[in-house]
Amino acid sequence: MDQIVIRGGRPLNGTIPIAGSKNAALPLMAACLLTDETLTLANPPHLADISTMADLLAELGVTVDMDGVSGNGEQAGRVLRLTADGDIGRTAPYDLVRRMRASVLVLGPALARFGEARVSLPGGCAIGTRPVDLHLEALRQLGAEIELEEGYISAKAPDGLAGAHITFPSVSVGASENILMAAVLAEGETQLANVAREPEVSDLAHCLVAMGAEIDGIGTDTLVVRGRTSLHGADYSVIPDRIETGTYAVAAAITGGELRLRNSRMDFLDSVVDTLGRAGVSVTEADGDILVKRTDNRLDGIDVMTEPYPGFPTDMQAQIMALLAVSDGASMITETIFENRFMHVPELNRMGADINVHGSSAIVRGVPELSGAHLMATDLRASVSLVLAGLAAKGETVINRVYHLDRGYERVEEKLAACGAEISRVGG
Ligand code: EPZ
Repeated sequence: MDQIVIRGGRPLNGTIPIAGSKNAALPLMAACLLTDETLTLANPPHLADISTMADLLAELGVTVDMDGVSGNGEQAGRVLRLTADGDIGRTAPYDLVRRMRASVLVLGPALARFGEARVSLPGGCAIGTRPVDLHLEALRQLGAEIELEEGYISAKAPDGLAGAHITFPSVSVGASENILMAAVLAEGETQLANVAREPEVSDLAHCLVAMGAEIDGIGTDTLVVRGRTSLHGADYSVIPDRIETGTYAVAAAITGGELRLRNSRMDFLDSVVDTLGRAGVSVTEADGDILVKRTDNRLDGIDVMTEPYPGFPTDMQAQIMALLAVSDGASMITETIFENRFMHVPELNRMGADINVHGSSAIVRGVPELSGAHLMATDLRASVSLVLAGLAAKGETVINRVYHLDRGYERVEEKLAACGAEISRVGG
């Protein structure tokens, strides 16, 4: 298994290209099931999770073409073409779904298009049990018959889905996306209340509209969908990855350097920019790029609470914790979205951090410096927080199980090395 080796203590300076959003691209890829015409997605990131979704769609019989990747792997020109015509299978098998729980996003579109779908229950992961009850209850309200059998979700709607007024009991990104994709082909009007407002949900809605869907209220917590009998293909471009953007912003701050982040957008980052600002980090826009550096040479401890968008994103919690571990003073980080998303804490503490977890909160007492260590990655965002800590630490850090990292960060060691980091990947 690959390892990442870092010798820390070097301020980063340079430019980093931001890729398309993983969490936008995954539902956008599933949306191809809603039409027999080609859905073309520009700016998809080149990540393990994207390959897994492509494998799943191909397993279902979707024609998947990826082209345009230039020799040096640069982002420019990469395009995904997906065509769900011909004989499309109805079963998303366990061995693919267990690799990536976002596979459950094929359930809604497949059921809406074909009247039936069978998807393995995704199961939990390191950060929580990750149930799908909100997905299934909402599909039932659209008229689906849902059975759980032998570890699979078996969904049927032989007469098609019927529009309904649905209020999600709690905010769920995936359930909002799954149900939106089902509703666009349901008969009549569907009203979805308490919908997740994450930019990735809006990106999906905009793509569905480009495919001929009728959706009002995009960007708010209430969507009104008027079902169509079919959708057509479309050419669509994936939004930049706001979490990758925030991650590299922390890399600039934690090393005391200055980074220029390219191909991204500030308008998805308000809560991250505000939080970094409170910690003593300046995030500004210049010539379409995002510039990040410390406001002056100190970082301040602050309190942070993760919340659904537009609040501070849970996917940035591990990264901000690494930064606050070397800030002046104490910080309290409260994780309100997932029940087990502090797996990075023991690993950061092995580097000399002073972090104590009390239920859903972690008290972080800043220390002057971290020390490199041998570490174990556990989940995607925990992994990258260890990279960030390693960039700032004295000495050498070795991170094992970096396949977690590859699920969500494209060429991370190349992007960081290009800005002066002493980082490399070694085959294990
Ligand atoms: C999406 O996961 C993202 N993944 C996650 O990013 C992100 O952390 C999460 O949204 C929250 O923003 C993708 O978009 C592929 P949820 P999702 O449904 O949809 C509970 C990353 O690092 N819940 O909004 O699975 C759930 O357990 C990943 O890129 C139910 O109880 O998240 C959680 O506590 C990690 N029942 C809360 O809701 C359900 O049916 C929010 O989950 C569904 C969810």
